[in-house]
Amino acid sequence: MTGFNADTKYIGKNYLWLEETDSTNSMMRRLLRNGTTIESRQEYGVVIEGTPREGMMIISDYQSLGRGRSGKNWISAPGDGIALSLLLMPESMGGGTSCITLVAALSVAAAIEKTSGLKPQIKWPNDILLNEKKVCGILTELDTTQGKNSIIVGVGINSNQQEFPAEISETATSIFLETGTPSDRESTVKYFSEYFEKYYEIFLKTSDMSLLKEEYNSLLVNKGRVVKVFDPKENIMGIAEGIDDEGRLIVKTDTGITHHIYAGEVSVRGIYGYV
Ligand code: BTN
Repeated sequence: MTGFNADTKYIGKNYLWLEETDSTNSMMRRLLRNGTTIESRQEYGVVIEGTPREGMMIISDYQSLGRGRSGKNWISAPGDGIALSLLLMPESMGGGTSCITLVAALSVAAAIEKTSGLKPQIKWPNDILLNEKKVCGILTELDTTQGKNSIIVGVGINSNQQEFPAEISETATSIFLETGTPSDRESTVKYFSEYFEKYYEIFLKTSDMSLLKEEYNSLLVNKGRVVKVFDPKENIMGIAEGIDDEGRLIVKTDTGITHHIYAGEVSVRGIYGYV
């Protein structure tokens, strides 16, 4: 039985920690679509009951069809990582889902720092890095079942992997690999919930990143570096200056043009590789 007790008002107070599902994001979407009431199911160590509501989380030890950004898979061996989905139902959508991804990135970085003592950085918009290797990815999805907007924030954290498939071994890491000691997944989820509630409430005051921009930019690995932005419309190369109030990445080209890049479908890389 797995469990944690977040010191929060609503984030992570009701959660379902499963041994296995296809994808926690897909499962959350099914719950919303079906309007399902979750009942106590002992075999899963369930601490959640009732209809889907703001702050509810689904966490799984294993996902058979974990999804990443841009249609990629997200693969993690049973029990090695954290796969969680957090449900948000904000009154107004404000800056859409892209700022929520940045709020989640800040919260994951703070939770990893708190539990490991390491200093995570963020690769805009949604990768959390340790020593310039990816330790966490975020997939935020919008659901509009029955005309009501819900946001599903999917977070995949590499906690205790000791090796990665060859194709990502140069760019991926885990908390275990960086500290040399096993990482307590329950504590990471507890602190993620607590930091998320704190940052989300700050975000809700303005529905943009104006009050969180400085903290986000202080963790931004791309800041001051040359980046290549791969956009379906055009590719841009320039120096990343940080995010603006809307969470867009400010990139200045050597011809002096300033671009404000909206997260959407773009990917950003350094000129020498991943960062
Ligand atoms: C990325 O490509 O970097 C985003 C990865 C997001 C993975 C998480 S794991 C929990 C949630 N469920 C999914 O199927 N994907 C997200």
